[in-house]
Amino acid sequence: MILYYVHERLWFRTRVFQEKSSKIRHLLKTITWRLVGTVDTMFMGWLVTGDPTLGLQIGGLELITKMGLYYLHERAWHLSKFDLDQEPKKAESAPSSKAKNITNQHYSLKRIDRNQFQGHNSLFILFTGLSGSGKSTIANELEVLLSSKGVSTYTLDGDNVRFGLNKDLGFSKEERNENLRRIGEVGKLFVDSGKVTLAAFIAPLNEDRAMIKSIIGSEDYIEVFVNTSLEECEKRDIKGLYKKARAGEIKDFTGVSSPFEIPTEPHIILNTIGKSSQESAIEVYNLISNKLNLKNTDEQILSELS
Ligand code: ADX
Repeated sequence: MILYYVHERLWFRTRVFQEKSSKIRHLLKTITWRLVGTVDTMFMGWLVTGDPTLGLQIGGLELITKMGLYYLHERAWHLSKFDLDQEPKKAESAPSSKAKNITNQHYSLKRIDRNQFQGHNSLFILFTGLSGSGKSTIANELEVLLSSKGVSTYTLDGDNVRFGLNKDLGFSKEERNENLRRIGEVGKLFVDSGKVTLAAFIAPLNEDRAMIKSIIGSEDYIEVFVNTSLEECEKRDIKGLYKKARAGEIKDFTGVSSPFEIPTEPHIILNTIGKSSQESAIEVYNLISNKLNLKNTDEQILSELS
């Protein structure tokens, strides 16, 4: 079992025939695994019987029968959803692309490589909450904190993205959905690039948050609910938008004339009143620090210095 596990991990790290032909890859794996298995069996046969030739015979017989079995076993796992090499398969059958006749192009450098040389895992952190709740301010503090620890980050912000990528979108339910779908897809690329990606968006509906989560993948998705009440946001009204919305100058304004659903499955709820944005950022950092798997922790840096 130990040998099998090591063999499997070694193959996972090699790229031979990973993209072009899984059948050839599985045939090669069959041969290498059998070599490992046969040597092991011969050695065991010798150890138990005390006769090296008997060990050789048992190993030889096993070599022939088990190769067929292993190949079938490998093909069956490949077709199951647990296969380590399934990433290209999943992408090839990506749902509902308008364009036909497109194929998945594979690149040698994978996320796992980028995570390795950047020294940490990548993640997507959604800050959801009302306009003026403090999402951008806390995301900014967290980004500063993360980069001080050597983490590579990028922040996507609702206001900023609407000046460029999403400048064709307004605030109807459908347009918010498209806004957030694009953010999910862009965020997925950023996570693949190795970045810890922060996203500060109102994202008012649970169905849209769930959509982002399913695009990113639940393993890499953290949801932070910046739980500042409407009354407080309206009292702050930093951008003067609530006043305009109440006066009927802005339509579909979240919390005023457009709904905000309380997140049902946040990983953390930040209650911001009476707390600094740094304190809130530290709460999020404490939540994610294990997931980051940071190589250069403060302790390591200190021990390297001493
Ligand atoms: S979302 O609902 O689609 O997630 P997003 O986070 O991109 O919204 O944009 C929200 C920002 O746009 C707010 O912080 C605010 O500055 C601005 N804004 C302008 N009009 C509206 C509106 N009708 N509703 C909410 N925010 C608005």
